[in-house]
Amino acid sequence: MKILSRCLWLCGVGMVLALPVAARAVGGGDLERGREVYRQFCRACHGDAGDGKGPAAELLNTPPRDFQRAVFKFRSTPSGHLPTREDLERTIAFGIPKTAMPSWKSLPTRDIRAVADFIRSFSPRWVSEPPVSAVPLPKTPGDIASQAAVLRGEEAYRAAGCWECHGGPAGKGAEGGAYPWGEGPKAAELRDDQGRPSSAYDLRGDYFKGGSRPEDIFRTLTTGMDGTPMPSYADSLSERQRWDLVAYLISLGR
Ligand code: HEC
Ligand code: HEC
Repeated sequence: MKILSRCLWLCGVGMVLALPVAARAVGGGDLERGREVYRQFCRACHGDAGDGKGPAAELLNTPPRDFQRAVFKFRSTPSGHLPTREDLERTIAFGIPKTAMPSWKSLPTRDIRAVADFIRSFSPRWVSEPPVSAVPLPKTPGDIASQAAVLRGEEAYRAAGCWECHGGPAGKGAEGGAYPWGEGPKAAELRDDQGRPSSAYDLRGDYFKGGSRPEDIFRTLTTGMDGTPMPSYADSLSERQRWDLVAYLISLGR
């Protein structure tokens, strides 16, 4: 056992030396473990270089993003910032509904932590940018399920122009009235920051990618989904309006 662990340690040193600068600066002691977990469970989709071009990626309708750019959709941090370590761990543990990204809850917690750290080694942003904390998440208002909140939310959905991408109830007097869900007037032209088509899907589902609890949806509206056309509404909508939108979106659940 001792010999084996020494061998792992030595091989580990060799591999660490081969990693880019960022890797050594970012990772803790478990980087080699992270690399191993990544090789075994992640590379098929995310690619050896973390660029999202693994052998299986071509088959996916929402392909993975490029970890080398370090622009992440699922974050608790303000738009434009790196996610927290916990954000990465949460995404990895729970997976992403409606996409090929599985839940890795069956892995030991330390492996999830190790692979999250390994992912960070793909971009120097993790070294050059100071860590940013999560935006504060206010307490869910008690009237979130009330009809009044739902109606205010529907009005905010119109007024903020959500329908332009997501379809559904359109602006009062807009030509043609409502658009089909998932097919707003801008939907067809939406692209992500890698130039790939980006779908402003039908929001009448029970599951959202970034989590489906009221506080998860509030967080998504607050932080936006970086690298995609889904903006952050932290500045343009009040806290109350964002909660009303959450109420409305939940009321649409099928
Ligand atoms: C079967 C394919 C597949 C495998 C295997 C897979 N992923 Fe993913 N992963 C995806 C897809 C597809 C997405 C993009 C979903 C999206 O952007 O909507 C994704 C997204 C992610 C994200 C979110 C990035 C963001 O924008 O916030 C992280 C983090 C992630 N994967 C980590 C991992 C790790 C770690 C493993 C291995 C333990 C892994 N994935 C294995 C397909 C996969
Ligand atoms: C410019 C186009 C655009 C506008 C405007 C827009 N969205 Fe989005 N939205 C998107 C796209 C694209 C996605 C999907 C991103 C992805 O999964 O890659 C998305 C995703 C979402 C999601 C799903 C999040 C998840 O976790 O799965 C919700 C909820 C949402 N938008 C609500 C809203 C609301 C509410 C508004 C208005 C306040 C709005 N959007 C305005 C383009 C837009």
